[in-house]
Amino acid sequence: MTAEEIARLRKDYSLHSLNEEEVASSPIGQFERWWNDAEQSQIIEMNAMTLATTGDDNFADARTVLLKGFDARGFVFFTNYNSTKSRELSFNPACCLLFHWKELERQVRIKGIAGKIAPQENDDYFNTRPEGSQVGAWSSPQSEVVESKRWLEETFKQYAEKFKKEKLHRPPHWGGFRVKPIKIEFWQGRPNRMHDRILYSETTPGNWKIERLAP
Ligand SMILES: Cc1cc2nc3c(=O)[nH]c(=O)nc-3n(C[C@H](O)[C@H](O)[C@H](O)COP(=O)(O)O)c2cc1C
Repeated sequence: MTAEEIARLRKDYSLHSLNEEEVASSPIGQFERWWNDAEQSQIIEMNAMTLATTGDDNFADARTVLLKGFDARGFVFFTNYNSTKSRELSFNPACCLLFHWKELERQVRIKGIAGKIAPQENDDYFNTRPEGSQVGAWSSPQSEVVESKRWLEETFKQYAEKFKKEKLHRPPHWGGFRVKPIKIEFWQGRPNRMHDRILYSETTPGNWKIERLAP
């Protein structure tokens, strides 16, 4: 593709609209509506979201993680507690989650504070994971430099052997974070780049101000 062809890539949006009169009074209620739409649209990996964090080098950092639950308390994902993202969240729990459901011309942007979830909740989710993923949680020192792919494969095999003899349980370095939102913006693509943007901001615990932003 030439540079001119890349520059010409654009799409006009017209599928839906979003208006103050029709949105839910809470952002979780609104998220649930859009979540149901995403489910009905059979979006592949609709739970894939970008998690943005800040490191102690003050650089922004981002990667994809999978949403594993949400309610009024926040949005949950699971990971390795020794990973780069976890170290960055310990340094600065203020973070951002981003969904782009392009099939619906929608984006949801969640600013919030991340905290580790309770061990029992971690165990409950870990025990529902496929066995291979459970072994993987033991064998991968996520985000660390490793000597080779072969080393990773050997380590996986060793843990797989070990857990043929022992009961598989959650490694202490593996668990979830819940991101408690303080701001959630819902973006709906519209014709002529006049997109709808509705921002919920928490004013006092459980109370949300709703405002429209210019596209
Ligand atoms: C579709 C998709 C889903 C992913 N889901 C997760 C996840 O739920 N948890 C996780 O730790 N990493 C997940 N990853 C891998 C992360 O993007 C990332 O590579 C890894 O967590 C290491 O990130 P870090 O070094 O910033 O900690 C996923 C990647 C993709 C592409």
